[in-house]
Amino acid sequence: TITGLFAWEALDSRGKPTVGCEVRLDGGAIGRATVPSGASTGRHEARELRDGEARYGGNGVRKAVANVTGEIADAVRGLDVADLDVSLRTLDGTADLGRLGANAVLAVSVGAAVAGAAARGLPLHRAVADEGAAPLLPLPMVNIISGGAHSGRSIDVQDFLAVPLGARTFAEAIEWAARVRAGAAEELEHRNFPVALVADEGGLGPFLHTNRAALDVLVAGIERAGLRPGDDVGIAIDVAATQFARADGRYVLAAENRELTADGLVDELADWCASYPIVSLEDALAEDDWAGWRTATERLSGRQLLGDDLFVTNPDRLDRGIREHVANAVLVKPNQIGTLDTARAVVRRAQAAGYTTVLSARSGETEDDWLADLAVGWRTGQIKVGSTTRSERTAKWNRLLRLEAELGSRAEYAGRTALGGIR
Ligand code: PGA
Ligand code: ZN
Repeated sequence: TITGLFAWEALDSRGKPTVGCEVRLDGGAIGRATVPSGASTGRHEARELRDGEARYGGNGVRKAVANVTGEIADAVRGLDVADLDVSLRTLDGTADLGRLGANAVLAVSVGAAVAGAAARGLPLHRAVADEGAAPLLPLPMVNIISGGAHSGRSIDVQDFLAVPLGARTFAEAIEWAARVRAGAAEELEHRNFPVALVADEGGLGPFLHTNRAALDVLVAGIERAGLRPGDDVGIAIDVAATQFARADGRYVLAAENRELTADGLVDELADWCASYPIVSLEDALAEDDWAGWRTATERLSGRQLLGDDLFVTNPDRLDRGIREHVANAVLVKPNQIGTLDTARAVVRRAQAAGYTTVLSARSGETEDDWLADLAVGWRTGQIKVGSTTRSERTAKWNRLLRLEAELGSRAEYAGRTALGGIR
């Protein structure tokens, strides 16, 4: 049972405040967690509480911290860790957790999971796993080039990622991805683009003139790495189309000075799919463009169509997607929904419906590595945490590398099968 909570204001990888929390249990176990924060956030996400005063440009989280040490601590003292998440939702009383703050609530939820694992003497991945389920190391999706909100809107598409399909182990997948990143940097230098600056998730942030140019650079990077585009390394993109959708339903590719209808955007993406080895497309359409999404799901079938802003790790929105045959995969970000139990439920529901699952970090992250354990214990099959540089990114890769080394034959590696039978 929980005996106390402690919280503080910490910083995320963008230098923005975030909530840190320590959960104390009787028997002496403690668990600490800091929580991430997005930049291209969906409208339907759980709501972070920010102070809105002069400190940190309004982004301080002292109120959220005070909620943890005050109201939340008072309410959860004496509770069993297993009952915590439901109580936190009831206590907040709003659907988006905006009263106490989703940042406050998630910090407590994760801190308690970490403390609970410590109390049982288990690593977090074991503590969150179903009884008897083997640990599953995920296929990584690794950011190589960034645009959109993560890179000063240098290009419209937010993420161009490498998916090391042919790698036989997680360690090999990461080594290939690092090589592809270096290859892409070489290619950019060859084209006279500066590569010294990195984007929010550690990827390259070149001011290319078109989105296709980024795909060309990525393919060239794979080749420069001595790997085969498509066979060894596939491409994933996060279009993050919500970011460039206009209220009238049109999409504006600012970098290319073009304006498209939803159908036009799907045509464009279908063209890219015909020219490049794209295995996964995230947020191909905007968060509330269900009609456009339906078209995309039909026209781009055979590829992983991943809902991020569309589903926001929300069971109701995922249910609608499953019912209406929209998308075939869900991105899972615990801070979009605010508690681990609901994020876990989304993974289960997706898997039961034949949707693939990708656990994901945020563009504003911390040095915490709990996300890696969730991927392994929940058997999500895939994970996306950014590039192979910057410590808030490598913290997660490093935890997975260590788990693969430690677990040996006791763990499986998902590899390309994580993309499901549809590919
Ligand atoms: P965000 O971006 O964390 O800035 O929302 C990540 C993503 O869109 O997948
Ligand atoms: Zn996304």
